[in-house]
Amino acid sequence: MTQYSMDQLTAFCKRKGFVFPSSEIYGGLQAIYDYGHYGVLLKNNIRDAWWKHMVQLRDDVLALDSAIFMHPQTWVASGHVASFDDPQVDCRDCKNRMRADHVLEGHGISADKASLEFVNQELDKLRAETKLRCSACGSQNITPARRFSLMVKSNIGSPTEALCEENVVYLRPETCGGIYLEYKNTLNTLNPKLPFGIAQVGKAFRNEIVAKQFIFRTREFEQMEMQYFLRPQEMAATYEMWKEIRWQWYLQFGIQPERLRWYKHEKLAHYASAAYDVEYDFKFLGGFKEIEGIHARGDWDLSQHGKHSGVDLSYQDPQSKEKLVPHIMETSVGLGRLFLMFLDHAYTEETITNAKGESETRIVLKLHRDLAPVKVAVFPLLKNKPALVEKARAIYSALRPYFACEFDDNGNVGKRYRRQDEIGTPYCVTIDFDTLTDDTVTIRDRDTMAQVRMKAAELRGYFRGQIEN
Ligand code: GAP
Repeated sequence: MTQYSMDQLTAFCKRKGFVFPSSEIYGGLQAIYDYGHYGVLLKNNIRDAWWKHMVQLRDDVLALDSAIFMHPQTWVASGHVASFDDPQVDCRDCKNRMRADHVLEGHGISADKASLEFVNQELDKLRAETKLRCSACGSQNITPARRFSLMVKSNIGSPTEALCEENVVYLRPETCGGIYLEYKNTLNTLNPKLPFGIAQVGKAFRNEIVAKQFIFRTREFEQMEMQYFLRPQEMAATYEMWKEIRWQWYLQFGIQPERLRWYKHEKLAHYASAAYDVEYDFKFLGGFKEIEGIHARGDWDLSQHGKHSGVDLSYQDPQSKEKLVPHIMETSVGLGRLFLMFLDHAYTEETITNAKGESETRIVLKLHRDLAPVKVAVFPLLKNKPALVEKARAIYSALRPYFACEFDDNGNVGKRYRRQDEIGTPYCVTIDFDTLTDDTVTIRDRDTMAQVRMKAAELRGYFRGQIEN
């Protein structure tokens, strides 16, 4: 298993055009990142793999794309305005801001959903033992913990109106809020029968206390959420079903089962009956961290929105005419976190012997083929031989409507292989002088580096058998 640091991964992502720090020319913006060309391709493939399994292959899940801005009452009803916050401490010397629960966790004290009083008591004990120190400068001059709201506020309305509390809207802290608000329209227009789900992918925003964890925890991120509406008596079995579906999804895309585990939340919100996280063993974050949450939320969400809006959000059974407010279970995963997990899983450094017989380090992303940003790279053996370039271009043009392809004629073939290995391209096709006479090409496999010869006309069928997406 290749070990590497967060700095190495961050530098690699930037060098290869996967992820850039946002607003870099102005000095950056903490915990905000941009995705470059290969990053977008990889992220879209992960999103599509989720969507295919959660919507396309299911009869019981419908699609939604709701707006980021919602009526501000949405977040009052959900409880976010009153209590969506983290305990925060500051270093008085260097102004570093830290999450107090994470500070406690670093000392083996669990503070998951703990009260502010508990957090401050435990911090005081560490302070008395001179163990409470700033993570940046080591100072012991640390403030008591206080609540820090994660809600990101904005203001909409006429540009001539003064910015005032009445115009305040929130950038959604989770995408599921839009699903609850569109549950009734979905029910009235598409008439789904319980149990059914609504899924969506979109941006969410949280004013996170910065922990410098690259794209693991960002202030703007994408969530992929599915809310499943059901009868309360269906909850236990359905919950287990979705836990298994989600677990299998990770295995299907190549994650080793020993690097995944379930974390059971012992402290639950009063309305919840179960909450488990899928955790992945990140090499560069030093162990298991949350990737996805699967939560049984009872009827809290629809009841709250029904109460605050005054609109009846109950469901009527078409046969029995029984009326009920459906209960909800959700699967919720961050797209950026999945991106990081797949990179962590795929990033490999190998020592190989090159064509000159020297040993060199090969960096290769061993991504699942369906997730790879580029599926097939096409090379003419030599750049300065027009017949080779023309033939390679023709093969490239024939393949690109079906697969994400890249044409590369820079440097020697060995260098091109290295470049494609670094972005995880599973297949490289080289057009050489034999191609001009017998129409065969060389296909080189990313993982084994084995090469086979094949008729150019067979390439499409061959790749179709290997790549689904
Ligand atoms: N609707 C439920 C919900 O939002 P959550 O546990 O707060 O639950 C679900 O978030 C998932 O969203 C997390 O498991 C994580 O993958 C992702 N996520 C949450 N906050 C994030 C952040 N600041 N940056 C990146 N991903 C985040």
